[in-house]
Amino acid sequence: MTTAPRKLHIKSFGCQMNVYDAQRMVDTLAPEGFVETANADDADLVILNTCHIREKASEKVYSELGKLRLAKAEAAQHGKQMNVVVAGCVAQAEGDEIIRRAPVVDVVVGPQSYHNLPQLLAKARDGERALDTDFPVEDKFGFLPAPKPAAIRARGISAFVTVQEGCDKFCTFCVVPYTRGAEVSRPVAKIIEDTERLADNGVREITLIGQNVNGYHGEGPDGRPWALGQLIFRLAEIPGIARIRYSTSHPRDVEDTLIAAHRDLPQLMPFVHLPVQSGSDRILAAMNRKHTAADYRRVIERFRSARQDIAFTSDFIVGFPGETEQDFADTLALVTQIGYAGAYSFKYSPRPGTPAAELQETVSQADMDERLTRLQTLIDSQQAAFNKAAVGKTVDVLFERAARNPGQIVGRTAFLQPAHVMASEDIIGKILPVQVESLERYSLIGTLATATHPPLSSSELSQPVLTATGA
Ligand code: SAH
Ligand code: SF4
Ligand code: F3S
Repeated sequence: MTTAPRKLHIKSFGCQMNVYDAQRMVDTLAPEGFVETANADDADLVILNTCHIREKASEKVYSELGKLRLAKAEAAQHGKQMNVVVAGCVAQAEGDEIIRRAPVVDVVVGPQSYHNLPQLLAKARDGERALDTDFPVEDKFGFLPAPKPAAIRARGISAFVTVQEGCDKFCTFCVVPYTRGAEVSRPVAKIIEDTERLADNGVREITLIGQNVNGYHGEGPDGRPWALGQLIFRLAEIPGIARIRYSTSHPRDVEDTLIAAHRDLPQLMPFVHLPVQSGSDRILAAMNRKHTAADYRRVIERFRSARQDIAFTSDFIVGFPGETEQDFADTLALVTQIGYAGAYSFKYSPRPGTPAAELQETVSQADMDERLTRLQTLIDSQQAAFNKAAVGKTVDVLFERAARNPGQIVGRTAFLQPAHVMASEDIIGKILPVQVESLERYSLIGTLATATHPPLSSSELSQPVLTATGA
């Protein structure tokens, strides 16, 4: 091993779990002498951290590999070795094919095997190609090094904490149960340890992540499985952690302690991503979602009865095999009834190995495009109304960093809306009330509400006002 730092470029696609995994890969390779670089061309090691969820996502791998072939050849001309790793869900699903199709790739490594990266890379440097997509690990994060204080500080005041990985739900359209394996929950003690380390190094907001995060059932200190709500009650006791979020939830796994946590904990943000996929019971059944549209509405009601200001976001798929105009109308009706603060919507994409891929596709591309546009128009109008409603109000903002415009600091509201104010950098890491004056695209623009402002009205007081020291 050389002593000069080697440059690592890592490019992530897909979900939050991949963002988190990328950080863990960086932490794993730091003791090997790697430092991150933003530029693939001068890197000694390039990792593509891939996503397999839709065809478009997984096709990106091959176009990226085309570019890397040229960069690697160029490096070789200058007598430099560049190694290329494919990680993530495409690696897991199509590892053999990648090795066969793409000679530029030195290592293929699945999401459960990142702790083996140093050994796999040692092979690659000896000219051997390596594939590791085993599914052996109960708590893969137990094998990975904890981030160093400097790394935590460099990543800012908001951090992801993995609590659960994998999915046992087997929605018929979805690759996740195959790429991430069975649901595994991390023990409560490890999550507390991670969160305390983050808090000690300046983190103020944590987002608990998992493919099916509210299916969490990790072992508690009492030896019993704890639910997500119980875990959140415990994490809210950690000094310094002012905001807690979690993602992504499944409507079937919303248990009462989670609802209680929303009722009782001001730290738990009133912003819930709760994918429904469709508003039609026929389509929900064909998707194996195991809930109806009415079940979903009831779950939303349970949240809202605990805390009336909770805002929801969702995911939708249009054009699932068999979706009729009436089924799609049911989806629009559900969206109208719930009223979302935002949502992602996708055209159905058949994925190899999933049960839905066996079904005859019945919705033409033109009809899918048309339905997607109608759905997105409706969701966009709801999102715009939601954001507009903040103008004129005083909202709590957790300040994160200096903005692009000199003198401006940007933070986020409880609903993850970016909010900009003119202020000094010492407000970073604090939660302060902001008087919102205008909306520019998706960003709120305002001024710090000072003591000279009129007192908050009672409706505004339903939003907890936390300060940097008062969490
Ligand atoms: N665990 C999360 C979803 C992960 S995938 C959950 O259960 O909600 C993120 C979103 O991608 C899904 O909610 C779904 O809307 C979309 N998606 C997944 N598979 C898809 C497919 N085959 N075609 C189109 N969209 C898909
Ligand atoms: Fe995929 Fe369904 Fe599991 Fe979500 S719940 S990850 S959509 S199988
Ligand atoms: Fe994609 Fe894998 Fe996440 S398929 S959405 S990166 S779990």
